[in-house]
Amino acid sequence: MSDAAIKKATDHFAGLIQEQLDRIKTMKEQDDWTDYASLKPVTIGICWGDGIGKIISDHAQRVLEHMLKEEVAAGRVEFRAIEGLTIENRAKHNKAIPDDVLEEIKKCHVILKGPTTTPQDGDEWPNIESANVAMRRELDLFANVRPVKIPAEGINWCFFRENTEGAYVLGSRGVNVGDDLSVDFKVITEQGAERIIRMAFEYARKNGLKKVTAVTKSNVIKTTDGRFSRVAKRVAEEYKQYGIEQDEWYIDIMTAKLIDPERRSDFQVITLPNLYGDIITDEAAQLQGGVGTAGSANIGKKWAMFEAIHGSAPRMVKEGRDIYADPSSMIRAAAMLIRHIGFPERADQLDMALEVCGQFEKKLSITGRDNGATGEEFTRYLLDWVENSALENKWKECVGV
Ligand code: IPM
Ligand code: MG
Repeated sequence: MSDAAIKKATDHFAGLIQEQLDRIKTMKEQDDWTDYASLKPVTIGICWGDGIGKIISDHAQRVLEHMLKEEVAAGRVEFRAIEGLTIENRAKHNKAIPDDVLEEIKKCHVILKGPTTTPQDGDEWPNIESANVAMRRELDLFANVRPVKIPAEGINWCFFRENTEGAYVLGSRGVNVGDDLSVDFKVITEQGAERIIRMAFEYARKNGLKKVTAVTKSNVIKTTDGRFSRVAKRVAEEYKQYGIEQDEWYIDIMTAKLIDPERRSDFQVITLPNLYGDIITDEAAQLQGGVGTAGSANIGKKWAMFEAIHGSAPRMVKEGRDIYADPSSMIRAAAMLIRHIGFPERADQLDMALEVCGQFEKKLSITGRDNGATGEEFTRYLLDWVENSALENKWKECVGV
């Protein structure tokens, strides 16, 4: 190994450390939260994405426009189409998010984003960074909030996945040293851990929940996960007065406990570093009916972005099955968006319709194949329930409340 190769790697590392220290400085200086009630109009940008993203975003957009039509008419909300967040355009500019697209995104207050293709070494695209990861970083969307609800089993989980640090933040910036050595970097900062953990506790407090679970591998990954674990314990002290307890599970046993019918409904609010959150929320969504049923909010102080928890499923498009893709994930995301900008009753209505159609009545079911309903048919079925005055009673009857 040449000294020059080692020097190059350590210089790279020094640059990364400096960037992270600068980021900490920015976090410390962060402004107040956006007050949506004071905005007239709230601007919602729609980015369609790739693969099944195009079609399921269309369905979600239709539902969103339906739910907010009075607000649009009253000038309280406006929609803006943002083209260009496609893999073709990103590959052409060799950028995770082309500059002009990012500029348009930043002009909106909130974004509904379809799944985008994340290239991998060896596929047909240049190996650019994920658009998700770039958007989360560029807009500082530090909280990835992922609810999973199975009312019939008493499951009501809300995951608070850290979204701008962990194994992801430098995921495209690792180093190869010489021919044989590859090193990636994982980052946890005191401020980054605290803001997500605090948000989880605040959610518990506001919703009368009594437990926040931190998930780490702090027994092995001692420095970064060790910090996450310490911060969770420190923040927990402040919430004891509300009767909220805090516990910690390691990621491996947590993946097992989520499929333990005896234990899993004990979990309520779960907070975890980025990669663990990525993995475990897919598992949780599968229990709810598949990743196609789960939405995700990416929240920062200034902007927020709402999306499906899954990817663009190019295989479904190649096999001509995109019309059978489940739009529920994007529609859930739309419900989260509606709630976030201040219309909780509309969001409740949409959530209830999603549960009645997707988990209980199931007059149409989506299988991802031609033996199930199309996304279009399902969306019409859902909108019929949204408009049905018996919706709330039906939902209560289904959930057993
Ligand atoms: C998610 C997705 C993304 C992630 C991918 C598409 C980069 O899996 O939102 O969970 O890993 O965060
Ligand atoms: Mg994921």
